[in-house]
Amino acid sequence: MSEVTFSKEGNIGIIFVNNPPVNALSQAVRAGLQSGVEQGLADNDVEAMVILCGGSTFIAGADIREFGKPSQPPALPDVVYFMEDSPKPMIAAIHGTALGGGLEVALSCHFRIAAPTAKVGLPEVKLGLLPGAGGTQRLPRIAGVKAALEMIVSGDPISAQKTKTIGIIDEIAEGDLKTAALAYAKRIVTEKTPLRKVREMAAKVDSPTQFEDFAKSIARSKRGFIAPFKCIEAIRASVEMSFDEGMKQERTLFEGLRQGTQSGAQRHVFFAEREVVKVPGLPKDLATRDIKIVGILGAGTMGGGIAMCFANAGIPVRLLDMKQEFIDRGLGVIRKNYSNTVAKGRLAQEDMDQRMALIMPTLSYEDLKDVDLVIEAVFEDMAVKKEVFGKLEKICKPGAILASNTSYLNIDDIAAATGRPQDVVGMHFFSPANVMRLLENVRGAKTADDVKATVMKIGKKIGKVPVMVGVCDGFVGNRMLGKRSRECGFMLEEGALPTQIDKVIFDFGFPMGPYAMSDMAGLDVGWRNRKAKFNELTKREQDNNLLDKICEMGRYGQKTGAGFYKYDDKRNTTPDPLIEELILQHSKDRGIVRRVITDQEILERALYSMINEGAKILEEGIAARPVDIDAVYLYGYGFPAYHGGPMFYADTVGLKNIYEAILKYKDLVGAEYWTPSPLLEKLAKEGKGFYSM
Ligand code: 3HC
Ligand code: NAI
Repeated sequence: MSEVTFSKEGNIGIIFVNNPPVNALSQAVRAGLQSGVEQGLADNDVEAMVILCGGSTFIAGADIREFGKPSQPPALPDVVYFMEDSPKPMIAAIHGTALGGGLEVALSCHFRIAAPTAKVGLPEVKLGLLPGAGGTQRLPRIAGVKAALEMIVSGDPISAQKTKTIGIIDEIAEGDLKTAALAYAKRIVTEKTPLRKVREMAAKVDSPTQFEDFAKSIARSKRGFIAPFKCIEAIRASVEMSFDEGMKQERTLFEGLRQGTQSGAQRHVFFAEREVVKVPGLPKDLATRDIKIVGILGAGTMGGGIAMCFANAGIPVRLLDMKQEFIDRGLGVIRKNYSNTVAKGRLAQEDMDQRMALIMPTLSYEDLKDVDLVIEAVFEDMAVKKEVFGKLEKICKPGAILASNTSYLNIDDIAAATGRPQDVVGMHFFSPANVMRLLENVRGAKTADDVKATVMKIGKKIGKVPVMVGVCDGFVGNRMLGKRSRECGFMLEEGALPTQIDKVIFDFGFPMGPYAMSDMAGLDVGWRNRKAKFNELTKREQDNNLLDKICEMGRYGQKTGAGFYKYDDKRNTTPDPLIEELILQHSKDRGIVRRVITDQEILERALYSMINEGAKILEEGIAARPVDIDAVYLYGYGFPAYHGGPMFYADTVGLKNIYEAILKYKDLVGAEYWTPSPLLEKLAKEGKGFYSM
């Protein structure tokens, strides 16, 4: 069956789009729409045309996979212009989501009717683009500049009810959409309703500085991104230029973005999120285990956040800790988190009450008898973990999945403490667990395939981006981060200061630099970890003891008011001369002559050390694909989406350049830290990238 078909019901032509899964506007769909309108115009019996879609949604936008390729006619702006020019009424009948090019098609129709559950939006900005088929010119004309700025720059969809209020949708359908749309079309014909061409309307500003003010309001949240600011520029054209000139301006800006590296990276991110859940080697149709009730051990920082994730998804939780006071404290934090969301108007009080009611606190392991999945989030100590898993084995029903949220410990060793290692798996959430989207699911040597499939599925269900990784110290994320921390520590003693390093990493696009981040997480966490692994460190790493010195001063970061920086009551950060003095003295004591370290060197050592480790992780099969590593960094560590993740970024820099830099740092810092991974070396010499292996 072709993607677009034309048929008639009485005097109404139906242009039916059927291009699963989301009716994206591939070349065939664009051509089909054009030809559908032509057929309707040529047929004297047809007095109006309805565009209707099959499957779960109206057109969800351009076919994103086509953006990297040369464009094939007909171009969407021409198709929609042709539609709008039709002398016979064109009606869009919307269900599901009319997104991007889909909404642009609808805006070019003369009338729009939508199912009550429909949503519309222009999410191009999330792909590093702007609407490229008249969205920036037609939306401000029909919905006003304010609504257009909000919708186009945020990219977030809005509900059918709201779109009716702001004029995008003319009618909300009652009952079957097709029946309602046909009736609406007949009414338009009978009543001879004048055609409304959005392009003939005028867009007006609400104030002379509306665009500047809006740009200022997003300066912080959209830092580093190009597209949101280009969206504003394009919308401005709708007010200051004629429609045709505005369209030209939109096209120029769109093409500039489409060909730029940011959009390439953001399109990669879109597909990465969907790709990681398809774990190589796991059959797509593998039956998963039913997860109806979840047990969580430990009501601390992580346990509380994890409990919220499940309660948010409507899944009942049994939250266990050792003492009533720990339970009370944990529940108190959960309640406070929800209350803050209610206060901000982002959650209804009754929804909060429902979620709280789903979390049942307990001190008794007996209450874990009937749970389908337990996630352990107790102290990071192998002896404690083994003891806990030993208890779980005895209590939990056969087939229950026993998961650990450990950050570093070996899942296989934990599994060995039970008689059912096939049921044991890592589920490594990131702090704050109710906010961060990454979930590193760690497969043990004996973890059963259906357990792996189940933790991927449940991860997606609770709104996470689950990534399957193998067992190693720190898994993917923390193992790579360890290399960055080491290099930054070395650079501090060689000549850099925390402020310089943090600025370079912040300017690259991370939400914060490594020292601000450590201060926020609590320096004692890293310190404890360092002490536990001290004997495995090299001599230089052992001597690089600035963290020990700072922690010994009782400075654990934000929570104690001081760490690498000083903090006031409102947690505002200021550099501390005392710490700078400590660093200078440290270099002196170690006989290191401090030198100027350029920002470029900081960036390279911080990022290339991680990329080289990422390559090793691929060689060892800890991550199956570069996309898994990118997803870990995008969703767990705030890697800027416009760089696409460390492995994608490496390809944009060129592996040859990275390889040469690694050799330079090998000479400068030492082979034990900077030996290129054989995979990276091979790809660099072959002129390939991680994504073109
Ligand atoms: N192009 C190509 N493939 C697309 C696509 C698109 N626009 N939208 C979704 N897909 C693919 C996904 O990659 C996925 O493929 P897979 O099954 O092989 O992994 C499949 O369709 C299903 O997608 P989801 O898993 O995301 O399905 P959901 O039901 O969860 O969500 C959706 C559906 C809300 C439509 C969501 O897919 C979505 O937001 N899509 C992107 C919409 C978008 O960004 N549109 C704007 C495109 S740019 C544009 O229109 C430019 C224009 O202005 C010129
Ligand atoms: P936490 O100290 O805040 O909470 C641990 C909780 O476990 C405490 O409430 C404690 O009373 C309870 N507990 C300890 N032993 C117990 C036992 N035998 N039975 C029942 N409850 C017990 O610790 P946090 O930070 O929540 O860490 C928990 C786990 O999550 C650790 O393995 C840690 O490595 C891991 N993790 C921590 C992250 C973080 O940023 N804090 C991030 C990702 C993982």
